[in-house]
Amino acid sequence: PETITIQELANRMSERGVDVIRLLMKQGALHKITDVIDADTAQLVAEELGHTVKRVAESDVEEGLFDMPDAEDALESRPPVVTIMGHVDHGKTSLLDAIRQANVVAGEAGGITQHIGAYQVTAPNGAPITFIDTPGHAAFTAMRARGAKVTDIVILVVAADDGVMPQTIEAIHHAKAAEVPLIVAINKIDKPDAKPERVRTELLQHEVQTETFGGETLEVEVSAKEKLNLDKLLDAIILQSEVLDLKANPERSAEGTVIEARLDKGRGPVATVLVQRGTLHIGDIIVAGSQWGRVRALLDDKGAVCPSAGPSFPVEILGFSGTPEAGDRVAVVESEARAREITEYRERQRREKLVARGGGARTSLTDMMS
Ligand code: GTP
Ligand code: MG
Repeated sequence: PETITIQELANRMSERGVDVIRLLMKQGALHKITDVIDADTAQLVAEELGHTVKRVAESDVEEGLFDMPDAEDALESRPPVVTIMGHVDHGKTSLLDAIRQANVVAGEAGGITQHIGAYQVTAPNGAPITFIDTPGHAAFTAMRARGAKVTDIVILVVAADDGVMPQTIEAIHHAKAAEVPLIVAINKIDKPDAKPERVRTELLQHEVQTETFGGETLEVEVSAKEKLNLDKLLDAIILQSEVLDLKANPERSAEGTVIEARLDKGRGPVATVLVQRGTLHIGDIIVAGSQWGRVRALLDDKGAVCPSAGPSFPVEILGFSGTPEAGDRVAVVESEARAREITEYRERQRREKLVARGGGARTSLTDMMS
């Protein structure tokens, strides 16, 4: 149910909190300024104090912000967004590094590559692929819990000398729950004790049927260390993404998700955002969670300035007034007033939830003591 604190109600009417409390007292209810009242009571109070009430539901404030349908003929192919998962020490980071180096132009090799948590590489056929470097499964779960579906394909890294381990199984479950296809990368095949066949058999026990066993799950034997078969892995990603037929409308206002965000000493809040639909431009007014801003600069994964960012493109955004959170969805809005309306609304919601939770805790404590 919709609720509001007495303080907030008073603020919005530019009335004094005590006057609201007094009015409620007249109706027989005893309240403190921090108490939460329901929307109907709030409306009565407001009307009693001579205000015109316009009730705005969350669905109204956020109306049209996300997921407005696109015309079929406006859709264009977009690059796949890939997340690498697997058990600890199975070589996720090494594989990412190897893939990235294989694609970084010679002059940049060994240079400083800025870590932005997401980057794009080019497959042998010239097609771009976006990789998201999730810090761990917890972050992936948190994002999914918040409704942020960012990844199209999961690369499951399994070390050939170690086999399927607890976090391998966890990753399989994550991918299944998110309905995202897996590509198995059997890593460390350069090792003398590598047993890729054993990995396939173990995966079968967890309902991952690789092609070798007549299943549909693509698999590639790789070595991150020796840079073996990395092209094959990229080809498998491209093949899988063709099957998925990934599309988005680039000609609309941008929507995306915050991958990570931090407060930079010199540059202020910096958010790495994956654009998922539309194209983001410098000057756009954006909202993310309870933060908003005007895009001041867009930087790609190599730190180069770009004028705009289309679907599946990861960019660093400068210009937020505060630091948004990983998993926050990003949308472009038409005006600063609209951005303020949305973010202030969300901030109120957040505060009211906190107050409500605080109230709940006190109640249970009283219950325990009585
Ligand atoms: P966490 O981030 O801790 O979960 O590990 P990770 O999965 O990112 O593994 P990481 O890339 O850090 O590799 C773990 C160890 O395995 C390192 O010592 C790597 O050098 C080694 N390693 C990774 N890939 C290969 C490979 O293909 N062959 C061999 N021989 N060693 C590898
Ligand atoms: Mg790692």
